[in-house]
Amino acid sequence: MTSAPLSDPLARAGAVLTIDLGAVVANWTQLRDRVAPAECAAVVKANAYGLGVQRVVPALAAAGCRTFVVAQFDEALAVRAVAPTEARVLSLGGLPAGTAPDFTAHRILPVLNHLGDIAAWQAHAKAQGTALPAVVHIDTGMNRLGLGPDELDTLVGDLSRLEGVDVQVWMTHLACADEDSVMNSQQLGRFRSAIGRLPTAKASFANSSGIFHGTAFHFDLVRPGCALYGVNPTPAASNPMRDTIRLDARLLQVRNVDSPMTVGYGATHRVAARGKIATIAVGYADGYLRSLSGRGHVFVNGVAAPVVGRVSMDLVTVDVSHLPDEAVTPGGLVELIGPNRPVDTVASEGGTIGYEILTSLGARYHRVYRDPPPPEVA
Ligand SMILES: Cc1ncc(COP(=O)(O)O)c(C=O)c1O
Repeated sequence: MTSAPLSDPLARAGAVLTIDLGAVVANWTQLRDRVAPAECAAVVKANAYGLGVQRVVPALAAAGCRTFVVAQFDEALAVRAVAPTEARVLSLGGLPAGTAPDFTAHRILPVLNHLGDIAAWQAHAKAQGTALPAVVHIDTGMNRLGLGPDELDTLVGDLSRLEGVDVQVWMTHLACADEDSVMNSQQLGRFRSAIGRLPTAKASFANSSGIFHGTAFHFDLVRPGCALYGVNPTPAASNPMRDTIRLDARLLQVRNVDSPMTVGYGATHRVAARGKIATIAVGYADGYLRSLSGRGHVFVNGVAAPVVGRVSMDLVTVDVSHLPDEAVTPGGLVELIGPNRPVDTVASEGGTIGYEILTSLGARYHRVYRDPPPPEVA
């Protein structure tokens, strides 16, 4: 094997993902100020919604975030590795059998989702000879994770089940936070009633959208995820959050079509007479969803060009017939996500939600992180 030096990674990359950590921090700060005196956590599961835990967590920690939330233990370990020692790391996915010692060894707080989780944590606390901190999840209408009504009654009827469990937070999760739904007030009522029957501890209710329902939804700790990364938490109104990512992909080739012809797999698009098709170095393997076939738009120097034909694994074809030749030269970059096409717009074109666009962001992208500005000196 020779170790010949390689060219600039940016020159070799099919697509460039630019992540604005300053915008992520500004979004968190906006929510922190909105909910104060409640604490504002940061949900950083799924690799900080695709943006990268290793960069997002230190940036948010530097801004003052002290509680990070993930879905699984190994995600929590990755956060622990880059978070300040004093930060809390919560793992939503309960206590998988036999893993309790891992949680204590790495100071990760399990979110206990059912009586079995509580019993396992209690047994571990007994073996350790000390009370152990945890979060307990009460289901108020999701029917997904958390103690259901029967389990809640059992717990309330026998609070000895909590001996050795240092409940730091009672939490629940909204089902319809991004809508003006009756479910929101119903879940609020159920949560208030549940925590009123349980020993006093802090409480956590709202995700990103829940925060915007007002202070009654804030309790002691809010858990925003998507809004930190620029997804609109108030879909019925304009987006109060800053965009955090930009995705540009390389234009590989331009094909002049001068007679009726089809484009791409399945020949689903037909160029009627004359046209110009540009091929771009991104595909569904990068998380540019196949459902954007014939529906998405890219931007060439700010001018929209529709995706035509099927999105394939590594390539997308766009109709650039309306653009002058000099605007579509191979090697140039075109905007897929950015000021002209925010994440939520790409998502609606692809028939999905911003969360899925973000968490699908591909591993092949060349990533460029823009650091937050240094804190202002008082
Ligand atoms: C329990 C829990 N809390 C908070 C969040 C963050 O939600 P959002 O990204 O809508 O702010 C999630 C995300 O799915 C979650 O499952």
